[in-house]
Amino acid sequence: MCGIVGYVGTKQALPILIEGLKRLEYRGYDSAGVALVADDAIRITKSAGRISVLEQCLDHDDNAITGIAHTRWATHGAPNDINAHPHTDQSERFAVVHNGIIENYRALRTYLQNQGVEFKTDTDTEVLAQLIALVYDGNLEETVRKALHEVRGTYGIAVVCKDEPGVIVAAKRGSPLLVGIGEDEYIVASDASAILAHTSQVVYLEDDEMVRVSQDGLRTTTLEDIPVTKRIQEIEWTLDQIELGGHEHFMLKEIYEQDAALQNCMRGRIDAENGTIHLGGIADVARELTRAKRIILTGCGTAWHAGLVGEYLIEDLARIPCEVEYASEFRYRNPIIEDGTVVIAISQSGETADTLAALEEAKQRGALALGVVNVVGSSIARTTDAGIYLHVGPEIGVASTKAFSGQVVVLSMIASYLGRRRHMSQPAAEQLLSALDRIPAQITSVLEQNDACKKVAQDYVDRENWLYLGRGYQYPVALEGALKLKEISYIHAEGLAAAEMKHGPIALITDDMPVVFIATQGSQYDKVTSNIEEVRSRGGRVIAIATEGDRQIAELAEAVIYVPDTLEPLQPLLTVIPLQLIAYHAAVLRGCNVDKPRNLAKSVTVE
Ligand code: F6R
Repeated sequence: MCGIVGYVGTKQALPILIEGLKRLEYRGYDSAGVALVADDAIRITKSAGRISVLEQCLDHDDNAITGIAHTRWATHGAPNDINAHPHTDQSERFAVVHNGIIENYRALRTYLQNQGVEFKTDTDTEVLAQLIALVYDGNLEETVRKALHEVRGTYGIAVVCKDEPGVIVAAKRGSPLLVGIGEDEYIVASDASAILAHTSQVVYLEDDEMVRVSQDGLRTTTLEDIPVTKRIQEIEWTLDQIELGGHEHFMLKEIYEQDAALQNCMRGRIDAENGTIHLGGIADVARELTRAKRIILTGCGTAWHAGLVGEYLIEDLARIPCEVEYASEFRYRNPIIEDGTVVIAISQSGETADTLAALEEAKQRGALALGVVNVVGSSIARTTDAGIYLHVGPEIGVASTKAFSGQVVVLSMIASYLGRRRHMSQPAAEQLLSALDRIPAQITSVLEQNDACKKVAQDYVDRENWLYLGRGYQYPVALEGALKLKEISYIHAEGLAAAEMKHGPIALITDDMPVVFIATQGSQYDKVTSNIEEVRSRGGRVIAIATEGDRQIAELAEAVIYVPDTLEPLQPLLTVIPLQLIAYHAAVLRGCNVDKPRNLAKSVTVE
């Protein structure tokens, strides 16, 4: 979604701002703009479309050493040149970039119009620029503070003023904002990737905090003007992790990184030989968690699918009642949180608005709130009582791949940890953890099936409707496979619990429909093969993901992709890989923009 970059320093700001914007492209956007402050003026350039379009409109010789820039994902007003950020007040004294939504913007707009203010755009952000101008008292920081007291909603903002060149004031509520600290320079950004090329030293703002950066230094305060001393933190990601490094797409790079990413995720946490798990992030709440009467997993999209696997894992291995909820439903349905309820929010970005709100709701109702999050220092990570980071590295491709695998691994570790503390025997724990330990190497061997996955994509890519079916642990994988295909190739795909097919969706099956069965050997194998027969007898084109050595399945399916054998609870970690690869190749074959699918954003920071 929207992205912010701001620069104050001694260098030419423009190239740094543009480079930052490009690093934020993966988040999804529909227009972009830059404001440069120098010579008693603010120079604004903005345009609908990609950053490359903006670049054509810019004066690349502009030597300003202060500026702010933005990528916009439209919420209020069409994605056109005028509504692109930065926004200014009538006198063009101020420029503002903003992520989030100002909820009372209509009331503020009416109020400002009654004061004679004329608006140029349809955005909620212009209201903020005009309000700042109206209450301006000669001090940018004070003025922004005063204006923000009138605002309801969420924001990450950066503001410049032509009267104070060399100063950026930024503030945050519910939308991420951080400040990179370089040598004689500061970079304000909504995402660490925008600053990594310049510095890895960073300060994360908390909600209702403000920062003023200039050549004189950095000053952080609360909205009430109480000074705050911030800890400077080190970003754990490296630059090469956010670069393509010879790969054609980030999605493919990230699919291929999964073996190493999961090794990282498990490092120092599992001791397969002794059957023990160390989860430092939840050590302080271990007692409360072990005694949990109910666990609710919540998230959106792929993270919700990982949660579904987690539900099976936690009930199976830890024997604690567990349910999974869409974060967007949980927060609004008056949920019952009894004593002993633990809510675990699952999120790659740690910024998904619905997941964050669900977590806050759960906390407010007295639940122990935990997080399974990838981005260190993200809003969800900071809101939880405790949690476990994925440590799978940055995920840039919009379609989530390695984060799903990381989420499932962390949930398996939580389930085994709880199981071991409650009832699981030492040999059972050893067996499970040894199997988990082998998963990265097994993923490497699944990745060697890339050509077979590509062949499946080639053979069926012209079909407009696909079904994905699985039972038990493979049911969430079916949902995830269908989501991957639809979101990047725009082929309609539906994932189902295989047994549900006969209760309606079977009517869809024609002699041309690809039906992907996740049919690995396990407790429901015979049932799944019966479902395959039902599809075959109606002419469906069966593609199976099966266990190595299963010859029977080859007689039932037109195409088979084999994965190594593992314990049933861990099978999703292997079966999801071919589905990611099939979706990837289908999207490439259809000429789709794999890493930036239409209408999608990497991190959904609005409801
Ligand atoms: C699908 C995908 C989305 C995200 C969802 C939650 O490939 O990426 O469905 O999983 O938007 O995002 P996070 O995990 O960042 O909360």
